[in-house]
Amino acid sequence: MPLWTVVGQGAIGLLATARLHQAGYPVQLHRRSSAPFDFIFQSADDAFSLSFHTPLTPYSFILLPVKAYAVVDAVQQLLPLLAENAQLVLSHNGMGTIEQVLPLLKPKQGLWFLSTSHGAFKANQTTVIHSGKGQSVLGALNQAAFAQQQSVEEAMQAALGPLVVEGDIKPSLWLKLAVNAVINPLTALHQCKNGELSRSHYTSAITLLIEEFVRVANAAGQDFSVETIQNRVKQVIEQTAENYSSMQQDFVKGRRTELEYITGFLLRQAEQHQLQLPAHQALYQLLLQKSPR
Ligand code: PAF
Repeated sequence: MPLWTVVGQGAIGLLATARLHQAGYPVQLHRRSSAPFDFIFQSADDAFSLSFHTPLTPYSFILLPVKAYAVVDAVQQLLPLLAENAQLVLSHNGMGTIEQVLPLLKPKQGLWFLSTSHGAFKANQTTVIHSGKGQSVLGALNQAAFAQQQSVEEAMQAALGPLVVEGDIKPSLWLKLAVNAVINPLTALHQCKNGELSRSHYTSAITLLIEEFVRVANAAGQDFSVETIQNRVKQVIEQTAENYSSMQQDFVKGRRTELEYITGFLLRQAEQHQLQLPAHQALYQLLLQKSPR
């Protein structure tokens, strides 16, 4: 089994690391600090600890589950450490990084995107809890990815499966974007759990956001109906009713949010297609004014 390198120490990265280890993969962590790092993994049916030291280079298989705004910097930093035919898997909320990363890679370096609904959180700096079993969608983004297709798919199945492999991952990314563009900014602004959004008080705001989303998605070649998006958003609100969204949590803790890669991405797409999105624009402005950056 090939050696995988997971970048960062976020909850999803540590979850993937623990599950790769459970499946028998050699796995190491790339972190900013070279100090040894131990963490404890807990799930409904398992608990164990793992220790990491200085990682071995060059890296051939890399999972990069870092926030969208940190992706380009992380990739720039990794470039000198990557094997000529390295395979890099991005995984985050929002869109806009793929176009930034593709031109940075060498011809034989493969790029992938994995979108996951697994839930994990860090109870403290060194304990990660697998809080909700989810699933993932994986897609290759360049020709070089196909050279190592089987290895990447098998490992991602172990790390964050059950896995669906899509020939074109863009529709799945747009669908996830719809969910994030409605739930995340509203819950951040109103400081509420996702489930609050099912109250009738929010119905007209959500409908407007969805109608605007569908207009821009359609202009960008994504064939969604308002009804499809409405059903999906409703389903996620119900399934994650007790959760605070990632943007709500970042916002309340004064951390940078993914707004630029969620609503910001949508607004940039709208501009390209000469569309106005007043409801998204208003949410964006309100959150920008209140954000730490
Ligand atoms: O960003 C998040 O928190 C999640 O993607 C989602 C689906 C909105 C659930 O909270």
